Amino acid sequence: MPLQPDNSTNDEEIRKKRLLGESILVLFNKLLHTAKIHEETNALCVSVCRQFKKEAEPLLREYGELSIEAKHSRLFIQGEKLLHRPETSAVTFSLLELFETLGVYGFSINTKLLAAEEKELYRFAHAVNEALSASDPKKELLTVMEAGRFSWIQTLFETQLEGENDGKSNKNEAIRVYSYAYNSIIEVGKQLAEERSFGTRKAMRSLQSLVDIIREDVSIVLGLSTIKDFDDYTYTHSVNVSILAMSLGNAIGLSRVSLMLLGMCALFHDLGKIDVNVDILNKPGKLTETEFKHIQKHSLNSVRRIIHLDAFRDLISRLILPPFEHHLKYDLSGYPSVKWSRPISLFGRIIAICDVYDALTAPRVYRPVAISPDRALGIMMENSGKDFDPTLLKWFVNMVGVYPVGTLLKIDTGEIALVAKGNSQGDARRPCALLLKPDGSGGFVSGKTVELQDKDPSTGKFMRNIVSSHHAAELGIQPAQYLYPRIAPDTSFIPLIS
Ligand SMILES: [Fe+2]
Ligand SMILES: [Fe+2]
Repeated sequence: MPLQPDNSTNDEEIRKKRLLGESILVLFNKLLHTAKIHEETNALCVSVCRQFKKEAEPLLREYGELSIEAKHSRLFIQGEKLLHRPETSAVTFSLLELFETLGVYGFSINTKLLAAEEKELYRFAHAVNEALSASDPKKELLTVMEAGRFSWIQTLFETQLEGENDGKSNKNEAIRVYSYAYNSIIEVGKQLAEERSFGTRKAMRSLQSLVDIIREDVSIVLGLSTIKDFDDYTYTHSVNVSILAMSLGNAIGLSRVSLMLLGMCALFHDLGKIDVNVDILNKPGKLTETEFKHIQKHSLNSVRRIIHLDAFRDLISRLILPPFEHHLKYDLSGYPSVKWSRPISLFGRIIAICDVYDALTAPRVYRPVAISPDRALGIMMENSGKDFDPTLLKWFVNMVGVYPVGTLLKIDTGEIALVAKGNSQGDARRPCALLLKPDGSGGFVSGKTVELQDKDPSTGKFMRNIVSSHHAAELGIQPAQYLYPRIAPDTSFIPLIS
């Protein structure tokens, strides 16, 4: 957890961070209140702004983000619940009331705060107060925030995700942020390959949005992770592993900030592949021992590349270990070989699972037809406890379902279908599926979406039964092409944002 460092059992450190969290909330509240009654140049206002920046700095340097959220009538800072204490109850009440009136569930502050002038903080507080007195506070705040005046703070609006029964808005938002994440990693990779320094801010921003969607409805982003681009494999793979890792992290209850750190580690886990010779990376045949050794260097190269990212040292230090560990395997029998017996980190174990799953289900030059998602899970289960953490693998299998989204199904009616959504409420072996109809020229078009758990009312028997499962690549199609036609109009993935 962000306020409880993964490798630390130091109670004193945890206590100090809790107090720091409390102090930040107190100052945030004070900032809003002083801006209500004083002018921008007032000494007290300037002092509160300065203090707020100072207190937020260590957490921003360590995590790259600072989140203040309200959930179930409790306040959370960095995903950690604020403990009930008489000294802070007035602040808690005041901020909860503020969030409710504004119709927001929180604020996310980024490292731009450190370079922001005190007057920018004051102006934000002033804008919030103005919104509070408007007839529609939420609308007013949304307008102010969308104008982009405050780049150091982001408002977490429930409206971005709520009230869309058909899930279309969530889906569109997920598609948009997937494109953004995809482009971010391409940009990072290409700039680093040209030996240009590159920051983590853009990647961080895309992950923030992905985390919000994952926490709301994981099925949409799991569907997006079926995008496999043959030519740009490393990039789509990096985004997919990031999505899968954050989804698994969310399933086991990691906080928002932890999910972002995990997402960053996953996004950069294969960054070292830009140092691998492309001919070796895309070699259709079997690799020679020398070539394999060359490829194996990529975990260490990822670390080297991450170290040179343009970000705070404290943040960088938290992004290094999991990419180093991602091929080590649960029993440490993988690469690079290590002399220690210390178990790999939680993030390392999560990324290892998501990495192999995405790699197995992607068509590659040396294996044009990928393994079906359910078969990939079967293969991974055979290596549970050896390659993978058995408990986490069980969570993962539960999360993606018996037939993961994007699996191609042959139905006993002669129809073929793509799994569109798991069936978390009922029988996991009977998901929701999108029927595919032949288009008459060797391709397919989308048909209707059916529930495989539906029964014929006259006979009481299931209307459709699964005969076999396959990888969509067997038909030469990408699931995302049908599940998300806006994002994948052709067999290759076309990013929406250039
Ligand atoms: Fe790798
Ligand atoms: Fe990988």
